[in-house]
Amino acid sequence: MKNIVITGGAGFIGSHVVRRFVTLHPEFHIINVDALTYAGNLENLKDIETASNYEFVKLDITDAEAVNKLFSDKKIHGVIHLAAESHVDRSITNPIDFVMTNVVGTVILMNAFKTYGDAENGRFYHVSTDEVYGTLGDDGKFTESTPYDPNSPYSASKASSDHFVRAYHETYKLPIVISNCSNNYGSHQFPEKLIPLMIHNIKHNKPLPVYGKGENIRDWLWVEDHARAIEMIYLNGKNGETYNIGGNNEWRNIDLVKKLCEIMDRKLGREAGTSAQLITYVTDRKGHDFRYAIDASKLENELGWSPTVAFDQGFDKTIDWYLENEVWLERVTSGAYSDYYQSMYSNR
Ligand code: NAD
Ligand code: DAU
Repeated sequence: MKNIVITGGAGFIGSHVVRRFVTLHPEFHIINVDALTYAGNLENLKDIETASNYEFVKLDITDAEAVNKLFSDKKIHGVIHLAAESHVDRSITNPIDFVMTNVVGTVILMNAFKTYGDAENGRFYHVSTDEVYGTLGDDGKFTESTPYDPNSPYSASKASSDHFVRAYHETYKLPIVISNCSNNYGSHQFPEKLIPLMIHNIKHNKPLPVYGKGENIRDWLWVEDHARAIEMIYLNGKNGETYNIGGNNEWRNIDLVKKLCEIMDRKLGREAGTSAQLITYVTDRKGHDFRYAIDASKLENELGWSPTVAFDQGFDKTIDWYLENEVWLERVTSGAYSDYYQSMYSNR
């Protein structure tokens, strides 16, 4: 059986990727490597934790000694690297954590794979973001040849790690692939991100903090469709290549929040228009990118991927998941979350 390390497997997207590989690929032994930061949660993987082809290793990817030990103890065939500091707002208040995990951690992992892993036949896959391309105006889409132009410390750190990954391919012939994806939505997302944060606040009748005028645009993709793209790219992508992944599903933030309010009113048995009254325009995010949109035609044409879940359907399922998993939502919003919320949103 081939050992595949998936980093960040206890996080939002990582847990979907781990579940997909564990259930669909008995030929792989999946080693989920995660430091369990505030964003990592093993409850996300309760249903597969006893699978015979699954193992969890608590490890910080910035700890080179521990990473090297893991890779020298077990023959690692491939790495799917998702572990990261992922929230733009946190990167604005604390950029160093982003440099450490996203840049230094990525290089440490590649060094370990290069030295001890199956760098001849295996693969190092860096899961990245469309934010590396910067921001769009009203028209156009990001393609794989759009020049990098990151604006936030988060996107600068992801752009930097993308460059290191590509440099390792050129310099050491490390077999790598990179994908750059748009905004994901779905179950198990930490409620610092727009959709679960708004669901939580609507539920508790708290203000809904919309940045600026709410006119910024994001392209939303069902997280399972991202996980399926990652599976296809890992198995069939071409070494040295980059693939864009997107939902072809652009929403202005304010329209998305209003739609969420309408659905939540219905689901919570509230009078129509009740939740929308909670919308509060707050000071904009610094350096807020206006619009992201993805041209995913390379992935569609070369590997036959396309999104499978219509937004209405996926959004409805997502809202139901957070309402049905009250214990999960209340647990992750207790403790340190209230300090985070205070520091980010009070007096904003
Ligand atoms: P997340 O914040 O939900 O999860 C990140 C995971 O990484 C957590 O489990 C955390 O414990 C772990 N982690 C953080 N620092 C670590 C360290 N030093 N060592 C080991 N583990 C560590 O993130 P996500 O939203 O699931 O994003 C996963 C990846 O996908 C990231 O690389 C992100 O840049 C990328 N991405 C995210 C989106 C999105 O919409 N969320 C879109 C495109 C790309
Ligand atoms: O595009 C891919 C990226 O999408 C990923 O690389 C990031 O890891 C992921 O966090 C996400 O980044 P965004 O900054 O786009 O996501 P976020 O959910 O933080 O914000 C979405 C939009 O909503 C953005 O325009 C800011 C706005 N927003 C966000 C929050 C948390 C608000 O108006 N109010 C809020 O409280």
